[in-house]
Amino acid sequence: MAVVTLTINDEMVSAQEGQSLLSVLREHGIEMPTLCHLDGLSERGGCRLCMVELEGNARLQAACVTPAAEGMMVHTHSERLVKYRMMILELLFSERNHVCAVCVMNGNCELQYEAAKIGMDHVRYDYLNPALPMDASHERYAVDHNRCILCSRCVRVCDEIEGAHVWDVMGRGANSRVITDLNQPWGTSLSCTSCGKCVQVCPTGALFTKGATVAEMEKQHDFLRWILDGREKKVWAHGNGK
Ligand code: FES
Repeated sequence: MAVVTLTINDEMVSAQEGQSLLSVLREHGIEMPTLCHLDGLSERGGCRLCMVELEGNARLQAACVTPAAEGMMVHTHSERLVKYRMMILELLFSERNHVCAVCVMNGNCELQYEAAKIGMDHVRYDYLNPALPMDASHERYAVDHNRCILCSRCVRVCDEIEGAHVWDVMGRGANSRVITDLNQPWGTSLSCTSCGKCVQVCPTGALFTKGATVAEMEKQHDFLRWILDGREKKVWAHGNGK
């Protein structure tokens, strides 16, 4: 693969042609907030927190879905970008009912972490306060739609890693909801394998294990890399004795 040279925050760096800007930034130690991105899953470019400015392009671009290209001039933390990131986080908080003090993920939530890191101490928008349900019909897990930010990590991990495609997104805009099977109670889903991968990748308290304490809520992402490495090395391929 060809190597390209680009400039990030006035520093010249090299990258593989086509490599995502987000991975280039991380390789060079540039911190970038992300919510929908998770190493090991396909990119969605949905949360827009990783937006960057590209010189000569009036539109902000999501770094996770923008490939590095020769001669790119990238800015990652301009005043405009910080302002927009703050606005995105405030809008996420105002769209559903993110009451951290009574959330099972309080202290382990990626949304809460990003908001604290950027210095968000209030929300300038009206709270929508939607009356959203919870589904606790599954034996081991529950989904609280009030905490969901529609990042679709659950949808992607279930489809791409577990291969079950239990989860999907129904509806439009602020009325969208993650659903199991054809919008039936999770506990009645025949396609769910109860693997819990969706729970582990959920960045907020939308998907959680029943009966777990807040201290046990730290989610594990290591399994993604482990499964993907195993697939690449074909360790579970038929005929290799595993
Ligand atoms: Fe890039 Fe969400 S991480 S848009």
